[in-house]
Amino acid sequence: MIVTVAAFKGGVGKSTTALHLAAYLQTQADTLLVDGDLNRSALDWTNRGRLSFKVADQKQGVELAKLYEHIVIDTPTKPDAKELKTLARGCDLLIIPCTPDAIALAATLKMVDTLPRHKVNYRILLTIIPPTPNNAGEEARNALRNAGLAVFKSGIRRLAVFQRAALEGVPVNAVKDSYAQIAWRCYAEAGKEIMG
Ligand SMILES: Nc1ncnc2c1ncn2[C@@H]1O[C@H](COP(=O)(O)OP(=O)(O)O)[C@@H](O)[C@H]1O
Ligand SMILES: [Mg+2]
Repeated sequence: MIVTVAAFKGGVGKSTTALHLAAYLQTQADTLLVDGDLNRSALDWTNRGRLSFKVADQKQGVELAKLYEHIVIDTPTKPDAKELKTLARGCDLLIIPCTPDAIALAATLKMVDTLPRHKVNYRILLTIIPPTPNNAGEEARNALRNAGLAVFKSGIRRLAVFQRAALEGVPVNAVKDSYAQIAWRCYAEAGKEIMG
């Protein structure tokens, strides 16, 4: 399966999502993470040699793709309309991470409008969801569903362990932190939805 992670807004958890879904998919079958992000964050992580899955840049990714059962592609901020069509057609599932705030929601609506919708299998993943009693996550989910958009049932909670993991260069399940398993489960549940 080829999964591409893209969004019209930066800082919504694209790279975090791509890394954790690659880590989850690797528990099922050999997985390659293609780091198309210009800051090369995931490549920096793999350089520290602690990831369970293979990471490559886009050029290497093209050569390596056939060797892997699953491929997760991380993309830089805001593809233009043409790039979006190309990357959407080149994958089995387009994941659009979206934080539960007005700006990210507007960017997500715009992005889905830009997609050749009937030809593209996309799903929106709510990320960095603040804890209760804040109900921004539920409100965002309802707004997206009411607009007829495809949304993951599971969402990703806002947890400091994700930032710790990024600093240490590993997925959250490799961090010693009392929230590590709770954080990991968010992405494991999303991964299960992908695998159907
Ligand atoms: N669920 C989360 N909870 C808390 N912080 C998060 C979460 N997901 C991502 N972050 C942090 O938010 C920032 C942006 O995430 P990142 O994955 O780099 O976004 P993008 O690739 O879309 O720019 C990073 O500092 C990251 O560690
Ligand atoms: Mg990124």
